[in-house]
Amino acid sequence: MKSTSIIVLLALIGYSSQVTRHPVRQELVEEIKLKAESWTPVETHQNLLRDVHPDKIKSRLGNLGFQEGSLISKLMSYLPFKTKFLGNHNHEHNAKSSHKKLQSPMLQDIFPQSFDFREQHPTCLREIRDQLDCGACWAFSSSGMLADRICKATDGKVNLEFSPQDMVACSMDNYGCQGGYLMNSIDFLMNDGVVIDKCQPYRNALNKCEYSCTDKTIPYKKHYCRPGSLKIMTTAEEFKQELLTNGPFIVSLTVYEDFINYGNGTYTYIAGEIIGGHAMKMMGWSTENGKTVWLLQNQWSDQWGEKGFIKILEGEIGIDSIGISCQPELNSEESK
Ligand SMILES: *[C@@H]1O[C@H](CO)[C@@H](O)[C@H](O)[C@H]1NC(C)=O
Repeated sequence: MKSTSIIVLLALIGYSSQVTRHPVRQELVEEIKLKAESWTPVETHQNLLRDVHPDKIKSRLGNLGFQEGSLISKLMSYLPFKTKFLGNHNHEHNAKSSHKKLQSPMLQDIFPQSFDFREQHPTCLREIRDQLDCGACWAFSSSGMLADRICKATDGKVNLEFSPQDMVACSMDNYGCQGGYLMNSIDFLMNDGVVIDKCQPYRNALNKCEYSCTDKTIPYKKHYCRPGSLKIMTTAEEFKQELLTNGPFIVSLTVYEDFINYGNGTYTYIAGEIIGGHAMKMMGWSTENGKTVWLLQNQWSDQWGEKGFIKILEGEIGIDSIGISCQPELNSEESK
């Protein structure tokens, strides 16, 4: 009896570890080195995520609307604001975008060859954050966008760090550390607003929504996006125009296993399965061989990628399928 159950147990363990392979594995890194022309993977022993269980890596990828990159959800994004994306339809999103963007040479010419928000607004820099084991990319990227935009709009005078924890705990249309939707994140910034990070520091876990600061000496104050200022960008031209005029915004992308091994250079999909959906902050672009390379800020610490950033070639992993933004409510910022 006893030995039978042990065998059954071992069989189950063996089975489950085969099902979820670790994205940080030597064979994948070797394949990337062989095939990738524009980027370099990190060595497995140097990869910060090597000891993180694959399920935990998966749970970090908290953009539940990552099918936003697909055509169906792209259409759905034009439906009224409150509409939720379905989180469960089969994504048939290809790593390489099939819909070629129509970029007329004339339109291309009106934009500079490169743009980096960090260089244009050095007084708006803040430290690169780390979402740790919580699937709160939606909260980090959207609150970070609001902070950048307030900073840009005030010429660097107001540079605040906002609290993703406030969004994790209080955004009832999202799922805390289980993930969230980008549209609902914008909705929260407009209707509920977000407090500064010092008011509700990051906990890497869900907690009950609190309407006061953890440190009672800090005044409880919300910071908002202007109602009705939601904007959706779907072309490279709109992306560039938005960066130049209004600043960083949030984008949705599909994460494949090779992404977890990114070290430096310009990412293109090489190999591996889909792990999940992710959101990051669009920060700029450059031009390589006539193609646009997007510059994005991740929130997996400054040890990840290029000092916390990644460059991604246009059309890859849904990176330029959809961008979402809102405008800061500045009245309350200036009255302080
Ligand atoms: C990545 O960094 C290494 C070492 O700093 C450098 O030699 C290499 O050229 C870089 N690769 C790319 C694709 O930028």
